Amino acid sequence: MEDMKTIQWFPGHMAKTRRMIQKSLPLVDAVAELLDARLPLSSRNPEFDRLTRKKPRLVILNKADMADPALTQKWIAYYQKRGAAVITADSKSGKGVKNFPNALRTLLAPQLARYAEKGMKGRPIRVMILGIPNVGKSSLINRLAGGKRAKAEDRAGVTRVQQWIKVDGGVELLDTPGVLWPKLDDQEVACRLAFTGAIRDDILDQEALAAKLLELLHTKYPQALLERYKIAPDAELKGFALLEQLAKNRGMLLSGGIPNTERAAIALLDEFRGVKLGRITLEEPPVAAIPAPTSASADTAAQENAFPEHEG
Ligand code: G4P
Repeated sequence: MEDMKTIQWFPGHMAKTRRMIQKSLPLVDAVAELLDARLPLSSRNPEFDRLTRKKPRLVILNKADMADPALTQKWIAYYQKRGAAVITADSKSGKGVKNFPNALRTLLAPQLARYAEKGMKGRPIRVMILGIPNVGKSSLINRLAGGKRAKAEDRAGVTRVQQWIKVDGGVELLDTPGVLWPKLDDQEVACRLAFTGAIRDDILDQEALAAKLLELLHTKYPQALLERYKIAPDAELKGFALLEQLAKNRGMLLSGGIPNTERAAIALLDEFRGVKLGRITLEEPPVAAIPAPTSASADTAAQENAFPEHEG
């Protein structure tokens, strides 16, 4: 997958996001980290913990309507164990989105009790939404805000004041979500994001990508391949051979009976993204325990990192 190496996140964008987060962190009570429920590790920004320091966090497993419900339960437990509040959402239909304010209230119960003691009972809870592109930030904000979304002023010469969008349950959202970058230097991460369509298609080799996806599905969801493409589980069948099999079984043939793997690749990727193969999650929570610090001088930042990056 040579082409993947050429995908680079624009460094200026990273600096801008870092500045935005730095500026906004003191203003918010919590950060909401939006993840794709089909890729709850690969859709994380590798620097998220460092960027948001110790702010209380709500993990939103979005696109849960497309993900495997059994694995979503495991992912909920995984992130809860690491100290986050977790909700699942389908921001397209709105399902689950109503749990957002309550989850924040529970997460922030100690802070809210302190505010109440100080007589600041009606104080809004302020939250910043963060996530990599395509994970559903705009959809979620639109769902939460309904028609109430404020129009941001952006006139030359006028310092843009950050605006807050009031949503239900006494919660206010920062009007612009933080667009984080994925860990694209990791080939596995880049591939998985490409499977879901989070990375633009035209810069990738479709057939290589489809072959890789087929191999993953062949191992993790053999039943789905059998039902949709009549590909029976066969340990001997790997990558490109699977794609040829799919083409043959679908009658996608070139003259001379050669399997049209290009068409098969497009069909597979389209159908996977369209949930035609069923609800599928491509990553399972790592089973490896968080390594214990080896010495008293171990990096404290690493110890404090409750969300280890892409383990296992
Ligand atoms: P972003 O701001 O984080 O970049 O993401 P955005 O909301 O633009 O969502 C990216 C795509 O994902 C959109 O699809 C959106 O409809 C879809 N989406 C967002 N949340 C969910 C969800 O929970 N479930 C499902 N099934 N889809 C979701 P699109 O094809 O780009 O646009 P559209 O054709 O849906 O308008």
